[in-house]
Amino acid sequence: MEKINVALDGPAGAGKSTVARHVAKAMDYIYVDTGAMYRAITWKALQLGIRPEDTEAVIETARNMKLELFAHESGQQVYVDGENVTELIRSQEVNRAVSIIAQIPEVRQLLVEKQKKIAAAKGVVMDGRDIGSSVLPDAEVKIFLTASPRIRAERRFKEMNQPGIDLDELEKQICQRDEMDRNRVHSPLVQAEDAVLLDTSDMDLNEVVEAVLKLCRSKVTGEGN
Ligand code: CDP
Ligand code: CDP
Repeated sequence: MEKINVALDGPAGAGKSTVARHVAKAMDYIYVDTGAMYRAITWKALQLGIRPEDTEAVIETARNMKLELFAHESGQQVYVDGENVTELIRSQEVNRAVSIIAQIPEVRQLLVEKQKKIAAAKGVVMDGRDIGSSVLPDAEVKIFLTASPRIRAERRFKEMNQPGIDLDELEKQICQRDEMDRNRVHSPLVQAEDAVLLDTSDMDLNEVVEAVLKLCRSKVTGEGN
């Protein structure tokens, strides 16, 4: 059966990664978390003591580091210069800096090229902010996942399970990051014109996965055309 590409975009904590992983598994497709790529560059720059605002140094870091993604049963594994950083890139320090680094056009260009190459053979479920609008404008299925800021913060809060994290503070951080992502000049977070909007505030994970799978299957069988 012919394979399609699926683009999943939306703000932080909307459920993109989890939904994309389940959908990819059900369809036997490759799951690509593009946020992890921006996080990996951010992590490396911070490791080197580079400030996220030091654009030239960040670009040089991005160009010189080796970034590898591997598909694994438990989800995408991210390696930087041979080190598995899959967990490390989820830190609060990275959360705070990533949207500053994601504004840099040279960084975006570098990653978008990689993302397009991965998706060229089709059979990819890719999640991010600009997938439907910019990276894969021809993706057969485009979904924009969203949920209220409070619900997104609560979902994050539950999964973080870290002492000293305050729900109100988490919601504030998420909203700040969304704002930066929505208002940047280069490929901001935006719902593509032809994307289907799914507000998941009142949907559980299973319902969202089923709704996305239904759209994908109807495209694959041609019923959705
Ligand atoms: O998991 P969460 O939704 O919190 O974030 P993420 O998907 O890991 O993305 C982290 C950050 O990377 C976002 O806040 C954006 O600043 C940036 N990003 C982007 O600019 N473009 C993408 N395609 C994916 C992520
Ligand atoms: O990738 P993104 O930042 O959009 O969100 P995520 O990391 O996939 O989802 C954040 C959390 O919300 C995960 O723990 C999901 O299991 C959970 N979730 C949920 O409770 N209900 C949904 N409808 C979707 C996700």
